[in-house]
Amino acid sequence: MQRIALVNMKGGVAKTTLAVNLADALSRRHGRSVLVVDTDPQFNATQCLVSGPKYVEQIGAGAATIVDIFDDSARPIVNPVRGHATKEPAAYADISVWTIREKVVDRQGALDLVAGSLDLHRLDMAPGQGREFRLQRFLNAVEEKNKYDYAIIDTPPTPSAWMTAALLASNYYIIPVRPEPLSRTGVDLLKGVVDRTVANYGCDLRCLGVVLTVAQESERVFQDAVNFFDTNEVWRGKRFAKALPRRTEIARAQGEQRLILDLSDEAAKSALAVITNEFLERVQNE
Ligand SMILES: Nc1ncnc2c1ncn2[C@@H]1O[C@H](COP(=O)(O)OP(=O)(O)OP(=O)(O)O)[C@@H](O)[C@H]1O
Ligand SMILES: [Mg+2]
Repeated sequence: MQRIALVNMKGGVAKTTLAVNLADALSRRHGRSVLVVDTDPQFNATQCLVSGPKYVEQIGAGAATIVDIFDDSARPIVNPVRGHATKEPAAYADISVWTIREKVVDRQGALDLVAGSLDLHRLDMAPGQGREFRLQRFLNAVEEKNKYDYAIIDTPPTPSAWMTAALLASNYYIIPVRPEPLSRTGVDLLKGVVDRTVANYGCDLRCLGVVLTVAQESERVFQDAVNFFDTNEVWRGKRFAKALPRRTEIARAQGEQRLILDLSDEAAKSALAVITNEFLERVQNE
């Protein structure tokens, strides 16, 4: 199982959009089984895959979320019949994921989700407690079941324990970048965070590439971004050839859990297909 985090210290660059659509295309177009992991307390990736009522229903039924992976403390529960008790933290192997789409042999791969949760904010993720390793260990347990080809990890836009946990759990990272003048600051900041994480934890983490997103290729800022990434000595060779085009419909459809492959926009679908193919090539060649 290859584990890929979508990261950028800048907000709103389409990390989540690329994460869920890449996962969807790998499952629907390439028959690969994918686990999406939502480590962002904003839980937008979860909202792109699960409707509000369904989310409430699942949580009400006690379904596990990312909080169960990070929370290793016993939680007090008050039972009206039995009085006070404690709920022991779940063993990794017992934390079940949410099924978004079942695998259909020779047609589509499974698409599952480690759902995000606003409750992540309530967890004390102070460094030094070892919680930043828990996602890595959870994915190790998942890997033993041999179900998935890829884990795609969506991350929050801020340097945080969740971001560290996502990086430690990954072997690759992809940087989605909006073609804007300020985007360079974001990638340089990110590079610093990744380099520090690798140095501090000694993990093996490689950059799979930079994907330009929300792109209007005719605009000057797009060409400027292309030139920057193609000539900068750190980033040369990292840019994916195809950008994800800007489309209001992509944003609008997310609210109804419709992804790019569900739209009638052939150019957007084709761009996603080219990006997905390049993703598969890069993972294979690395
Ligand atoms: N190709 C696109 N065309 C138009 N709008 C887009 C496109 N991709 C993403 N968006 C919209 O841009 C906004 C930011 O996208 P997204 O949430 O994926 O970014 P993000 O990097 O995950 O943000 P955050 O840092 O808050 O997690 C969203 O409203 C999304 O619907
Ligand atoms: Mg996001």
